[in-house]
Amino acid sequence: MVLSIGHKKTRTAVFISGTGSNLKSLIKFSKTNKSPISIEIVVSNNSKAKGLNYAKRFKIKNKVLNFKNKNLSENKLLSILKINNIKMICLAGFMKILSGNFIKRFKGKILNIHPSLLPKYKGLNTHKRVLNNREKYSGCTVHFVNSRLDSGKIILQKKVKISKKETEFSLAKKILSQEHKLYPKAIQKVFNL
Ligand code: GRF
Repeated sequence: MVLSIGHKKTRTAVFISGTGSNLKSLIKFSKTNKSPISIEIVVSNNSKAKGLNYAKRFKIKNKVLNFKNKNLSENKLLSILKINNIKMICLAGFMKILSGNFIKRFKGKILNIHPSLLPKYKGLNTHKRVLNNREKYSGCTVHFVNSRLDSGKIILQKKVKISKKETEFSLAKKILSQEHKLYPKAIQKVFNL
């Protein structure tokens, strides 16, 4: 898939809910010459998300919408994205499920990162389920977002080996450090770079 790319970077929003370590890696990437995107706004459903501090530190606009009334929040969000001329959305630890209507408005322009080798282990508590099933490998996936949870077309995956004494914590850490490399690579791939 090719998104428009001239010499200008594609104006992108990142949606977060928590720590924002993927946001941080995307901000760093966006500032390099290799990046086809610029991050113009960070959106969070949670005013306490630590990741909002990265937006502040890098002087990126940020917006908190509580999503208690999903329809209302999404409509507000759509107008904010429009005003800011946003053309692409990267979900990075965003814990709300976007409606089909919202996704339609950004068809093929929303990416997500998930800490498993999709289509295995969609949804929450992936590491726990992976370890309970005594898997030998896990990993992370960047995929397009469609209206079914963690089910859109896969862009890139990275596999990691699970060690004998792996814990949920160690596996999460191991995978997260791969996520930080995978997301920028997947974005380059989307732009055919
Ligand atoms: C990551 O593991 C991501 O795959 C998942 O949520 C986590 C977010 O971590 N969707 P962070 O907020 O980017 O540090």
